[in-house]
Amino acid sequence: MWRNLSYAIFLLSCFTYAELSDTKNNEWDFLIFTQHWPATICRIWMEKPTHSCIMPHEQNSWTIHGIWPNKNHSMGPFFCNKTWSFDPDQVKSIETDLEESWGNIEKEQSLYSLWAHEWTKHGTCAASIEPLNCELKYFTKGLEWLKKYTMKNILNNAGITPSDMKEYKAIDFHNAVKTKLGFKPMVECHKVDGKQFLFEIRICFSKSLELIDCEDTHMTNTDIITNCKPTEGIIYPVTEKPPKRYLIQLHRLLSWLRWFTV
Ligand SMILES: *[C@@H]1O[C@H](CO)[C@@H](O)[C@H](O)[C@H]1NC(C)=O
Ligand SMILES: *[C@@H]1O[C@H](CO)[C@@H](O)[C@H](O)[C@H]1NC(C)=O
Repeated sequence: MWRNLSYAIFLLSCFTYAELSDTKNNEWDFLIFTQHWPATICRIWMEKPTHSCIMPHEQNSWTIHGIWPNKNHSMGPFFCNKTWSFDPDQVKSIETDLEESWGNIEKEQSLYSLWAHEWTKHGTCAASIEPLNCELKYFTKGLEWLKKYTMKNILNNAGITPSDMKEYKAIDFHNAVKTKLGFKPMVECHKVDGKQFLFEIRICFSKSLELIDCEDTHMTNTDIITNCKPTEGIIYPVTEKPPKRYLIQLHRLLSWLRWFTV
């Protein structure tokens, strides 16, 4: 019996310890709000030929990737409350807006997979502050910030518009945001077929939800916070589909056949 009791006490102390250490590790200093560019997300997703995309209805609109709590000089915390899984019912009232503005571009993924991922990985950590302490508040805040800090408009204001041909530099995107909002963003690229594409633009907030400069997590030690190669051109693409190689070949074959049969 004593043995069982001490076992129970040991278990209990483990629990208390785990809880304490978890709470400590789950602390964070600022939030990263990430908007991503659907045409680039789709190009990356469609590198696998069986994949397809769901694009937002509104043309040229950026969509939300997530709101991510972060510690100074490090990443995360992540997955702060493993018992708090995503419940679609909690966001039913805003689901239509979420589908348009925080939708899953990757069609072959399940409808809720992006929201479930963002909630369990980041939302459960963000929930330690009152304004974000439940699913509905977390996702509503994302929609609110997208409306207030619409990347399409911020870039438009600086004369930056999507184009499959034109090449921009990381500094162009940085300057557009810095000029409009007064704070430094993070500009993220992704390589597709050896070319740099504009992927995400992140802006940062203090724990009291005021805009602040993002932290130089990439340690580039330049004024711009970016993972893009600063000297290389960046495509901010209009179309989500690169022209399919087999279509070009088919076209060639058809014109050749036509010539041949004439
Ligand atoms: C994190 O960085 C911000 C801005 O530099 C600073 O105000 C804050 O005190 C830092 N927090 C911690 C816990 O170091
Ligand atoms: C963890 O999630 C549960 C819901 O599953 C919630 O009741 C509890 O308050 C959460 N704990 C913390 C520390 O947020």
